[in-house]
Amino acid sequence: MVNTTQRNADRPYDVIVWGATGFTGALVAEYLAKSAPQDVKFAIAGRNKEKLASVTERMSKVAPNRKNIPVIIANIDDQASLDRMVSQARVVISTAGPFMQHGHELVEACVNNKTDYIDSTGEPPFVRAIIDKHHDKAAADGTMIVPGCGFDSIPSDMGAFMLADHLAKKGKKTASVKMTVDDMKGIASGGTVASLLGVLTETPYKDQWKMMDPYYLCPADAKRGPDSVVPPVFHYSRDFGKWQSYFVMEMTNTRIVRRSNALFGNAYGPNFAYSETQGQSNLLTASAVTVAGGAIASALVLPPVQWAAKWAANKFVPAGSGPTKEQIETGYFKCRAIGEAVKEPNEQTAVKAVAHINGIQDPGYGETSKMLAESALTLALVDRKTLASPASAGAFAGKITGGVLTASTAMGYSLINRLRAAGMTFDVADL
Ligand SMILES: NC(=O)c1ccc[n+]([C@@H]2O[C@H](COP(=O)([O-])OP(=O)(O)OC[C@H]3O[C@@H](n4cnc5c(N)ncnc54)[C@H](OP(=O)(O)O)[C@@H]3O)[C@@H](O)[C@H]2O)c1
Repeated sequence: MVNTTQRNADRPYDVIVWGATGFTGALVAEYLAKSAPQDVKFAIAGRNKEKLASVTERMSKVAPNRKNIPVIIANIDDQASLDRMVSQARVVISTAGPFMQHGHELVEACVNNKTDYIDSTGEPPFVRAIIDKHHDKAAADGTMIVPGCGFDSIPSDMGAFMLADHLAKKGKKTASVKMTVDDMKGIASGGTVASLLGVLTETPYKDQWKMMDPYYLCPADAKRGPDSVVPPVFHYSRDFGKWQSYFVMEMTNTRIVRRSNALFGNAYGPNFAYSETQGQSNLLTASAVTVAGGAIASALVLPPVQWAAKWAANKFVPAGSGPTKEQIETGYFKCRAIGEAVKEPNEQTAVKAVAHINGIQDPGYGETSKMLAESALTLALVDRKTLASPASAGAFAGKITGGVLTASTAMGYSLINRLRAAGMTFDVADL
């Protein structure tokens, strides 16, 4: 039930999906049509009327009771059209990536019109740029701008948040969280491949260098923790009882988790460390995945390799393409994170806890569209006082009111509980 005492309650739409004609955006639109409470008002938006009409057809097929879904036309070349669109919504979800290319104008419009914003980006330079340009105004206005609400980076961010909160409630500061992707089945879309290539090939070298900083997304004056730049390495982890390789999304996820701790005022722990790897069944696969990942990323600094990679991506995974319905439904992911508390002088061993974060469909599309839609519904349906309360923000209550945020700092358990109800696992227990 929409609470009419909420922020921007007089606007015609609770949620607008921008980029609804894309592979991920259409899945978000379908999810909202099927799963949003009946009284939630939403619209879809993009630049192409015909493509949007075919998305509304898909939506009414999955949710025949949703009639005449409104369509809004806007264009990033016409800022006034974006202002008109976002001023009609309480929350905008954007899946119009690559965000480094197409994302800035929409965030600008949301900040200027005090409209909350959720997106699917996994591009750290985009997140850094919107922090630099918009954090202060969004924080002053109480607007929540929340990038990275898909598989990048909700499982990592919420896993670290739950563990730090669990330990804080025992009176402990967190020394470290290690996260592993234990198992996963999923396929990348055209937009995801283009976005990854964009980060690796279109970010100027000086910004790529800055991006290597583990605290790249933290406020400039935030206290730095113990994490340092680590090259891709493989190793055997006693904690996880498994070989670990480099994980392709750690570049974004680790920096988002560290931003969360910094935004909470280093409340996880003053020397909080975070790392992320992918579990592998044996030494051979752990070494092969790590070496291949490192080699591909290094080779992509060479212009001919960049050209060949973009040509192959356009040919084999073009924009708009992605996994089939069956591939989405049979996909899944299983993440595990272990948190270790700061050891007191009188303790023999450190207190530890374990979190499991699992998804029941393809991580990048089935579960990402769910995470994006539920994030927007959280901002639309839960009032700000509740978001800042212990029920939502746990031990870190009352610290955040707006800004360029992360999923955990903006929505905490209010989002986790919605995702649990939608079939995902977010568990934490003593170890
Ligand atoms: N975090 C995650 O786990 C995760 C998962 C999935 C996707 N993603 C990210 O989400 C983004 C979208 O991926 P996708 O596979 O859905 O991409 P896609 O199918 O290529 O869709 C891109 C969308 O962006 C729109 N767009 C492109 N250029 C535009 C412009 N100049 N003005 C307005 N709209 C424009 C497209 O509109 P038209 O149809 O009009 O061209 C389309 O709606 C990517 O950045 C991807 O990395 C992240």
